[in-house]
Amino acid sequence: MALKAAYPESMLLYFSVKMKQLENDLSVASLHRELRTKLVAQNILYYPVTSSTMDVAKQAVREGVEEGTIVIADHQTAGRGRFGRRWWAPAESSILLSIILHPDLDQLPRLNMAAALAVVHSIEKVTGLRPVIKWPNDVLIEGKKVSGALIESDVQDETVNSAILGIGLNVNLDPSSIPEIAETATSLRDVLQKEVSRLEMLRSLLGEFEELYSALRQGEPIDKLWRHRLETLGKQVTVRSGEMVEEGYAESVDDEGNLLLRRPDGGLVTIVAGEVTLQV
Ligand code: BTN
Repeated sequence: MALKAAYPESMLLYFSVKMKQLENDLSVASLHRELRTKLVAQNILYYPVTSSTMDVAKQAVREGVEEGTIVIADHQTAGRGRFGRRWWAPAESSILLSIILHPDLDQLPRLNMAAALAVVHSIEKVTGLRPVIKWPNDVLIEGKKVSGALIESDVQDETVNSAILGIGLNVNLDPSSIPEIAETATSLRDVLQKEVSRLEMLRSLLGEFEELYSALRQGEPIDKLWRHRLETLGKQVTVRSGEMVEEGYAESVDDEGNLLLRRPDGGLVTIVAGEVTLQV
């Protein structure tokens, strides 16, 4: 009310447009403001448009950038997901991020956990929503996918030369505008019916990820936290990976995050990677 009395209507409109622009601005300067991380995002490579942040990150690794470097884009022309699928996101609708990391070999399988948990925690903190994880690293709200993660690593002998963690998070995307994902995807805006600040989400996500990654690096267990959020366990599922199709009861996960599936014949099979669907 006080603001209304002090400023004419046109000024208020200007302020509100300006605020929206700031909350959507993922440029280096605005990101650095209030970012309290020590490793992640000390070096930021920002692109209004690129093919895929994964490709840019790969090139950056070749050029020798430091661990924690992030690549972010407002738009990708060839964004990719797991199993060679496309990752769809209209310009400025989402968080499209790759983080360059150098974990030890035994920490590599747990990057999935850190990624999914960081997304879950940041969504919770910024929006109050309570997402769950579909094995291994899809984040779901109301049964639909709001975020996914992709890890591309370069491992030689026992050494991880680099691991690039890509995260896509649907912040203000309208799933109904993309036929390929209209039925299966959601966004924070879709659920809350209001715009969410991409900048606030990204800052929170980077902070949460740094905390979990540091814990992982120091050998602290994060698998319990991740397991606690897995909605897949205790359900009859089908798991597909390329030609492989397995059906059974999602009984548990092991220390490295592999899925332990009880086949109808009673045998237990360990699944390292795959796409899970619930059996109806
Ligand atoms: C999946 O669930 O299939 C993983 C999706 C990963 C998408 C992100 S968006 C940022 C980064 N760049 C890409 O091309 N892919 C990842």
